[in-house]
Amino acid sequence: GAAARDGEPRPGGPADSPFIRACRRRPVPHTPVWFMRQAGRSLPEYREIRASVPMLESCRRPELVTEITLQPVRRHGVDAAILFSDIVVPVAAAGVDLDIVPGTGPVVAEPVRTAADVERIRPITRDDVSYVDEAVRQLVVELGDTPLIGFAGAPFTLASYLVEGGPSRTHAKTKALMYGDEALWHALCGRLAEVTLAFLRVQIEAGVSAVQLFDSWAGALSEADYRRYVLPHSTAVLSGLVDDCSGSGRGDRRAEPERSPAGVPRIHFGVGTAELLGAMGEAGADVVGVDWRTPLDVATHRIGPDKAVQGNLDPAVLLAPWPVVEAEVRRILDQGSAAPGHVFNLGHGVLPEVDPEVLTRVVALVHELSSRRADQ
Ligand code: CP3
Repeated sequence: GAAARDGEPRPGGPADSPFIRACRRRPVPHTPVWFMRQAGRSLPEYREIRASVPMLESCRRPELVTEITLQPVRRHGVDAAILFSDIVVPVAAAGVDLDIVPGTGPVVAEPVRTAADVERIRPITRDDVSYVDEAVRQLVVELGDTPLIGFAGAPFTLASYLVEGGPSRTHAKTKALMYGDEALWHALCGRLAEVTLAFLRVQIEAGVSAVQLFDSWAGALSEADYRRYVLPHSTAVLSGLVDDCSGSGRGDRRAEPERSPAGVPRIHFGVGTAELLGAMGEAGADVVGVDWRTPLDVATHRIGPDKAVQGNLDPAVLLAPWPVVEAEVRRILDQGSAAPGHVFNLGHGVLPEVDPEVLTRVVALVHELSSRRADQ
């Protein structure tokens, strides 16, 4: 309709929310805030639900996904919800035998070693993840004007779990495969990029307002290796989402004003990525996620003036006395004002031992301080 023509979203809907406006580098009434892992073990109401349901099973039950996703929105008043799921959910749907082990993380039964192992990772369709489609549709109704963030793991981070067989500090087996058999490496990451792109498309078609690509462990690589071995695959995912809106083949989406012309905003995040921030932006992000090591003004300088930034609060600072937390929030709001768009967040996920009341106070403080600035 008219909204698509002048590029401004329908007033009041999720596409006009402070979070989506900040992602699109538009003026905001206050700085939006959400937390990575806001749905999780810091919340007693989450621990109660999860006490009797294994992690992967909880991701496959739409009514549990919906309830867990809504918990931090109700409690903290954050500016966005993030779908409750895990980066290995689409990989399991693609046929890989894996589990999420409490206190450890994803564990893969038969780690990837050969071309035949790669071939066994099947491309996925909506039917393989129908529980995600259902949960997103239900959530979009329940959330009203609050935007829902969809997400997926990026090829490198997924490849690391598949090659190592579980979490790794050094990513040594992953790098050995990458350096030792470049063709197999690109075949693996190419297949994972396909799975990831399909998984994000399901979420976007079901109604998420933004997506975040988690390349949590990309910081293990030098910039040169990142550009050679990883960037083409992450670009295939992030740029593939934009191609969806350009009318080639999947052009039916052009009829939906909120999705056109540029698609939903894309956030690209990793940890220890100070040297990779420019390249991660180049992969096709609207927002680049930054860990606690790089101040947001320095990050903005590295990423360039055409992208928004998100993150930088050290998750462990939330365990500090309140005056320390408050000073850090002020510093990040100051440094974030150097960027054309700023989404307040942590530099990585909420730690399970954090007092949720502190998270609620941070949300209120970010809103209060930033709306005063907006008035000036
Ligand atoms: O952010 C959110 O609130 C949405 C939920 C979310 C989960 N996993 C739920 C989860 C998201 C966005 C993820 C992504 C994810 N999963 C990443 C990328 C983000 C990051 O943290 O870097 C990674 C690397 C994984 C793999 C994974 N899954 C790990 C390392 C773990 C933690 C293992 C542990 O027990 O400490 C998981 C399990 C997991 N995924 C939990 C949650 C809430 C904990 C499981 C539990 O509650 O028992």
